Amino acid sequence: MTAKLIDGTAIAAQVRKETAEAVATLKKERGIVPGLATVLVGENPASKAYVSSKQRACEELGMTTIGQKLPTSATQEEVEGMVKSLNADPKIHGILVQLPLPKHLDEEKILGAVSLAKDVDGFHPLNIGRLSMKGREPMFVPCTPAGCIELLVRSGVEISGKEAVVLGRSNIVGLPVSMLLLHRNATITICHSRTADLPGVCRRADILIAAVGRAEMVKADWVKPGAAVIDVGINQVWVEHPADKEYTCAVTGETFVAHRRDQSEKGGRRKMGDYCTECDTAWLKGQEPPDSCAGCEPIALFRKYKLVGDVDFDDVSQVAGHLTPVPGGVGPMTIAMLMHNTYRGALHTFE
Ligand code: GUN
Repeated sequence: MTAKLIDGTAIAAQVRKETAEAVATLKKERGIVPGLATVLVGENPASKAYVSSKQRACEELGMTTIGQKLPTSATQEEVEGMVKSLNADPKIHGILVQLPLPKHLDEEKILGAVSLAKDVDGFHPLNIGRLSMKGREPMFVPCTPAGCIELLVRSGVEISGKEAVVLGRSNIVGLPVSMLLLHRNATITICHSRTADLPGVCRRADILIAAVGRAEMVKADWVKPGAAVIDVGINQVWVEHPADKEYTCAVTGETFVAHRRDQSEKGGRRKMGDYCTECDTAWLKGQEPPDSCAGCEPIALFRKYKLVGDVDFDDVSQVAGHLTPVPGGVGPMTIAMLMHNTYRGALHTFE
C-alpha cells in the first residue's frame, strides 16, 4: 500500500473533542445547552440506525436531544406541523429531518419549513442557494460534504488550484461538496451516469470524491498516482460462508441464500429467515411460518455481509496518495460535523 490512510475515526474524535469543549464553555459562561431534534418518518432500518447514532453523539458531547418519530403514513401537514413546533421550541437549536422521506411526502417543502437558524443539516433551499453562489454565506453547510473537506484539510491536502472530480450529483453529497471545493478554488468536474469515459475523467483528478453508491466501482486505473481519494459510499455486499445454501420460502416461493447461525461470526450478520428441521421447511424473515410448522421450533438462518465503499480500497491504495477507508472514513465525520453545526446553532440563536 502506498496511500496514506485518512483516519476518519481519529479526525472525527478530534472534531468531537473540540466541540465538547466549546459546548462545556457555552454551558458554563452563558448557561446554554445546545439541543438537537431529530425527525424520523417511517421504519427505514438504516435511517433508524443513523438517527440513534446522532442522538448518542449529542449525549456524549453534553448536548440535549429529542427524537421525534412519525409513522410511514404521516401526512405532509403532520410532518410540517412537527417541524414548526420544533422551530418554536427555545431549547432546540438544530432540527434534522432524516432523509429519505416516504415517497408521498414533499421533501422540498418539509426541508423549507425548517427555520433557517436551526437548519443544522444545511438542506434549507436558502442555505443551499447561498452555498451555490459566490460571495454568499450559508448559515450551515451539509454535514457529509463538510466532513469531506475537513478530512482533506486536516490531512494537509492542498485544494486551491487543484483539479477535483466528484462522482455523483446528489443533493446530499455530490452537489454541495462540489460547491465547497469550488469555494476553496479547486477546478471542478461533476460526473454522473451519462458521463463519457468515466475512468479517463477520474484520472485527471488530484482530488477524487466518490459518492455514487456503487460497490468498489473506482479501480486503480481510474486514479492518478498520488491523488487524494475520499470514499463517501457505504454499500453492503454479501460475504460467502462455507455453509451457505439456497432455501425456498414455503410461503412466497422465493429463493434465498443463507446459513444456520454461526456463533463464531461477529457483526455484519443479517437474519434472512427461519428453518424448521422437523418439517424441512424454510420461510423468509417477515413471513408467518406455514401452518404445517405450527408448534415447531424453527432455527434462524443468517447471511454475512460487509460494508464497502465506492472505491476498491486494496486496488486504489496502491496508487493514491491519500485514501479514506470504509468504514472509518467519511461516516464518523458526518456525525462530528452535525455536532459542530448544532453547537453553532446554539451560538447563533442567542447572539
Ligand atoms: N440521509 C443520508 N444522509 C443524510 C444527512 O446527512 N442528513 C439527513 N437529514 N438525512 C440523511
